[in-house]
Amino acid sequence: MDNQGTTVYRGHVITPLSASEYLDYIDGALVVDAVGCIVAVGEWSELSAGVAGATIVDLGQRLILPGLVDLHLHLPQVSQTGRSGEHLLAWLNKYIFPAEARFSDTRHARKIASWFFDELARNGTTLAVVFTTVHKAAADAAFEVALAKGSRVIMGKVMMDANSPPALTETTQVSLEESEELAQKWHGADNGRLLYAFTPRFGVTSTPELLAGVGRLFAKYPGTYVHTHLSEAKEEIQFVSKQFPRARSYLDVYRSFGIIGERTVFAHAIHLDDDDIKCVKETRSSLAHCPSSNFFLKSGAFLYQKIRAAGCLFGLGSDVAAGPSMSLFNVMKDANYMQPDIWIEPPELLFRATLGGAQAAHLDHLTGSLTVGKEADFIVVDPSRKSGIVDDILAQPTDEILSSLVFLGDDRLIESTYVRGKCIFHCKNVDMLATC
Ligand code: GUN
Ligand code: ZN
Repeated sequence: MDNQGTTVYRGHVITPLSASEYLDYIDGALVVDAVGCIVAVGEWSELSAGVAGATIVDLGQRLILPGLVDLHLHLPQVSQTGRSGEHLLAWLNKYIFPAEARFSDTRHARKIASWFFDELARNGTTLAVVFTTVHKAAADAAFEVALAKGSRVIMGKVMMDANSPPALTETTQVSLEESEELAQKWHGADNGRLLYAFTPRFGVTSTPELLAGVGRLFAKYPGTYVHTHLSEAKEEIQFVSKQFPRARSYLDVYRSFGIIGERTVFAHAIHLDDDDIKCVKETRSSLAHCPSSNFFLKSGAFLYQKIRAAGCLFGLGSDVAAGPSMSLFNVMKDANYMQPDIWIEPPELLFRATLGGAQAAHLDHLTGSLTVGKEADFIVVDPSRKSGIVDDILAQPTDEILSSLVFLGDDRLIESTYVRGKCIFHCKNVDMLATC
């Protein structure tokens, strides 16, 4: 085999197979070809003979994990984390809408986008489903920055044509036209690394005409997404039931406009009834569970057991800025803490933050686990970078390692982050990866 351009990452490889099972190669190897695809994964002893001529990156005992998937967060809100004391609607009015209004200044928007994508990479996130703002130029700038920085995103311009502050209110027609132009420009860019999501903010800030238009665009552009909020807060749900009195439930509002099915991502989905859960399952729609945000705004607790038992597709979202941290390790911990009666085991939490999230994004043929044929989206994790984790953790059984990562981990664990085999983050003080 000609190994020109191939790179072999030797280290402790852990990759999920399902919510309860993972592959574990303690002295393992991940072999990545010149275009960033995984061509082999397994024991170093078995793969080493076939990789003559390849670049070898010896990571010692460090962990090689799939990159993390953040199914829901807000680019313009990175400056607003940790602003507490209000429930959803008051919090939006007090902190979030003023911060988003500043994105009419495209220079400001580009600066924050640059910070945002650097932060995503620093936190080990290799696929993110992202809200921007209503401003077309700001969304355009966000895509340009993501393109340049090598991030993998599903992203879109926010759509708001009702019950919004004047600075963020669009006409229905402009909102639909600008969204369509952005989808035409960006959906599928860089060979599918950038994908477009039509992004009506939520029921409260949408007219029926807007949602009907979103349903039409979603049908017109195959492969695009719809990304929105669903049933997060009680006051929000009351508002939506008055605005759409004929709908059986909040989910039924979206369903009635064709906003349902594969590649619709509903953030939060806390206050669902049995019929809603059945509908999510049957339509293969996806839920972004955002426990840290739900704690922060005191929105309620996701029906984890019921939704898992129903077989719904769901992953985890940081929901920055209602979620205070971009680290999916913090979100994994909170997903467990949020449930009063059940434990969610560390392998399942890792699954939700990787392969489960990729499945919910309908991108698991490309990313989410370290599997031959997928693109090489992975992170190198060094537990010794985080205080509080015992020195000999890497000598312990892998279940114990995962437990330490999930309950004690945060951004400090991440040594480097790769998308499609390209290093998009490397912590500066460890100068060991020739490829970065
Ligand atoms: N619902 C509508 N907009 C938002 C937002 O920006 N954050 C959260 N958490 N919920 C929302
Ligand atoms: Zn949100």
